Amino acid sequence: MAAFGISELWDPAVRRDPHPFYDRVRDSGRPVLQIDPAGNRFWVVAGHADVLTGLRHPAIGHEIHRHCPGLPEPARHSLPEVARIEARQLINLDQPDHTRLRGLVSGGFTARAVARLEPWIGGLADRLVTEARRLGRVDAVTHLADPVPVNVIAELVGIPEPDRPRFRAWSAAIVSARPDGPAATLEFGAYLDELAARRRAVPEDDLISELVTRADQDDQLDRDELVALVQLLLIAGQETTVDLIVNGIRLLLTHPEQWQALREDPSLAAAVVEETLRFRGPVEIVPPRFTFQDVELASGLIPAYDRVGLSLWGANRDPAVFDRPHVFDIHRSDVRRHIAFGYGIHFCLGAHLARLESRIMFERIARELSGLRLTVDPVDLDAFRLHQNGLPLQA
Ligand code: HEM
Repeated sequence: MAAFGISELWDPAVRRDPHPFYDRVRDSGRPVLQIDPAGNRFWVVAGHADVLTGLRHPAIGHEIHRHCPGLPEPARHSLPEVARIEARQLINLDQPDHTRLRGLVSGGFTARAVARLEPWIGGLADRLVTEARRLGRVDAVTHLADPVPVNVIAELVGIPEPDRPRFRAWSAAIVSARPDGPAATLEFGAYLDELAARRRAVPEDDLISELVTRADQDDQLDRDELVALVQLLLIAGQETTVDLIVNGIRLLLTHPEQWQALREDPSLAAAVVEETLRFRGPVEIVPPRFTFQDVELASGLIPAYDRVGLSLWGANRDPAVFDRPHVFDIHRSDVRRHIAFGYGIHFCLGAHLARLESRIMFERIARELSGLRLTVDPVDLDAFRLHQNGLPLQA
């Protein structure tokens, strides 16, 4: 049986490339106990079948204080207003609050609803690639990926054009958990109160008007919940989408035959999106959950009241599901079994939107920036930190 270091998951070497670790967890045939940096017991699950079971298991969830008398609610931010918003976030809730809140916004994120945004996103993508061509030397994060999700969310929520620079600044502070993040949360909350009041008076065809109407109609949503929802759209959608676009570009440029295939047939962009999600998805492990009782997975038992880390990266490279799992191949036929957007009640609300944004970007890049190349040696790229360090390109 494989031996595991007690906190191996957080070793710097494992952080640089976690896949050999997940392969060993899967091969060991059981969940593996680790101790997280805060000293908590943390069970890692890495097989596709078990991760799926864990994601939809009724006795695995977030609100442990409701199941284990005596356990306090999870620690939140020290500023009460920030803590209140955190506690109302969809991603931290179980049924029934989760179901009610998700039901209020899910209509705005269906495939059909987001398809309406395609021309608008296309226009944004055109501007970005044109500017990149003009500049020549660009960075994939700054010039091609970072501006996409924040502007799309602003459009969807209904942030008026003149307010968008402020919206982007708050978003950057909140999303990257900078020291000014809590202040940004408060200012953003006050701004949303004001915007909600304007939309209440004169509704428009946007998400904020819809939420305000619902809140007023049958008291389905309170003020903190509204702020928490809009803020979560930013937090959950920004870095993930940027990561997907940047890693897609990196993987194409380091697999020249696949980059050429895309340039010859830009309709392969959707396949590039899916294989990038499978091979190097933006979310390594879903936000940790708790077991509310002993939970028996196919690979073994996880005791009650422990933390569980369900690894999407482990699941998406499981050889029981994917042929040659460690090979990046945009032509593979088994790609749709990946679970990079999670599964079950928390399945990514923005999945259609993220797919649309990244597919449009890959199409435009293949058509308009066909000479694109890396200006650094790929071995010098720490693929795990592209976000912070950027990805320099010649457009
Ligand atoms: C949830 C991945 C983009 C909004 C999730 C989850 C994953 C995920 C794995 C499940 C978390 C869990 O089970 O605890 C991704 C990836 C993205 C992406 C890989 C981009 C490539 C977006 C975008 C938005 C968004 C663009 C919004 C505009 C959300 C929300 C949730 C969520 C609101 C919480 C849903 C719930 O708790 O019911 N996402 N996401 N995501 N995502 Fe995404």
